[in-house]
Amino acid sequence: MRTLLVVAGAVVATFLTIAQFGTAGWTRPPILAQQHGYRGTGMDQIQTKAGAAALKAANVAPAPAEPVEQGTEKAGATYQNVQVLKDVSVEEFNRLMTSMTEWVAPEQGCTYCHNTENMADDSLYQKKVARRMIQMVQHINTTWKEKHVGEAGVTCYTCHRGQPVPANIWFENPGPNYKTAFTPRNNGQNMASASVGLASLPYNTFAEYFGKKDVDENVIRVNATTALPESKGKPIQDAEKTYGLMMHMSSSLGVNCTYCHNTRAISNWEQSTPQRTLAWHAIRMVRDLNGDYIEPLTGTFPANRLGPTGDAPKLNCATCHNGQNKPLAGAHVVETYPELTQVTADAGAAPAQDKAPPTAPAPAPQ
Ligand code: HEC
Ligand code: HEC
Ligand code: HEC
Ligand code: HEC
Repeated sequence: MRTLLVVAGAVVATFLTIAQFGTAGWTRPPILAQQHGYRGTGMDQIQTKAGAAALKAANVAPAPAEPVEQGTEKAGATYQNVQVLKDVSVEEFNRLMTSMTEWVAPEQGCTYCHNTENMADDSLYQKKVARRMIQMVQHINTTWKEKHVGEAGVTCYTCHRGQPVPANIWFENPGPNYKTAFTPRNNGQNMASASVGLASLPYNTFAEYFGKKDVDENVIRVNATTALPESKGKPIQDAEKTYGLMMHMSSSLGVNCTYCHNTRAISNWEQSTPQRTLAWHAIRMVRDLNGDYIEPLTGTFPANRLGPTGDAPKLNCATCHNGQNKPLAGAHVVETYPELTQVTADAGAAPAQDKAPPTAPAPAPQ
């Protein structure tokens, strides 16, 4: 009997051992671990070698277009309906048109935005959206240069990757379309949403934190700031929303929480990495871009591009980052496109000034 049990045990153990290799939680070695904080803090980034190589291969910046002669004619004087790139030379202007086509609509070509009978015509929504996108890119590369995108900068390709609609966009999530019956209020829970890593977390975190510009500066902060409670504190639901957002930030960048936090003291800025400060500004940048550039385009987009509640397709961290800690592996993409690193026309809607960090504990400025 005993021998039988031993044999049966051994068989079960063997099967379980083999079975675990097929489960989702199992990662195939070799593992790549990179230390990201002080020794002993366990602030490591874990990837597989194969995963890291695949990610790198999927995020290569395209070569910039051939440089052109610097002409003296300005696009605004030569063409009929140039509103943003007026002061750019005709040569640079055409070079940018070619690059924009490659970045956004390589299959469709110029006709994706243009009525080729009359290039000055603005009847296609794509052209109107693209004009605002040019302004948005200029705004990112100027206003947000020091606080986020640095010398690397962004072009249309950072988000579009050769597609008219970027791979990572989001809409307001209207929630369950069934009557919730006995549980009238589920606090946005138990709805597997990809935006929060399919966890049982509130599903509408993007609208809450990235959708509006006038969000309370302290809305993400949930940790107590005093040893003993001095006020009622925030409800647990707020902590869940914060967690949902953090899941998004981690997965967008392909990192774990310790890329920014020392998890023994999550809220403490002194023990956080410099990347956390960049991320703090990024949250404000995303609100600014959605609020000032994307949302005002709601009426410009055709109905089939809008979300279930009629809102415009908006961006989040993944739109630029696409799973990497630096988009396109940190390639300096705007160096040869000076027209994208300056504001060449009045921005229309007043560009939002980045607000000062909220009251202590504030991120140490870089
Ligand atoms: C992604 C959208 C998009 C694509 C693709 C695109 N363009 Fe444009 N094009 C624009 C926008 C936006 C303007 C207006 C820019 C401004 O107002 O500063 C414009 C303006 C122009 C003008 C000036 C027309 C006038 O008289 O006002 C020309 C010429 C032009 N584009 C040529 C091209 C060519 C050639 C291609 C293909 C190689 C092309 N464009 C592809 C968006 C696009
Ligand atoms: C920060 C990210 C980002 C950058 C950079 C960016 N875009 Fe976009 N773009 C978006 C988002 C988000 C949308 C909305 C997606 C949709 O249309 O469904 C969009 C939509 C568009 C559309 C409409 C596509 C359609 O068919 O609905 C055009 C055209 C476009 N962008 C052109 C450009 C051009 C040209 C540039 C560079 C000058 C640019 N974009 C840079 C994020 C970006
Ligand atoms: C890319 C950097 C980054 C990553 C990765 C990240 N966080 Fe954060 N975290 C921040 C920033 C920035 C804030 C402050 C946001 C603000 O104040 O607007 C924050 C705030 C928080 C807070 C609230 C702290 C307080 O003061 O109340 C918690 C809790 C938190 N993060 C948990 C996590 C967890 C858990 C993960 C992993 C799933 C994670 N974070 C991953 C950057 C990051
Ligand atoms: C408009 C595009 C864009 C968006 C949207 C964006 N980022 Fe970034 N981010 C960049 C670029 C470009 C860099 C590289 C900067 C450099 O190389 O100096 C970067 C760098 C970073 C870094 C530093 C990485 C490192 O290893 O040093 C962090 C952290 C970061 N982003 C977090 C975020 C978070 C969190 C969000 C969303 C709240 C976000 N970003 C949204 C473009 C973007």
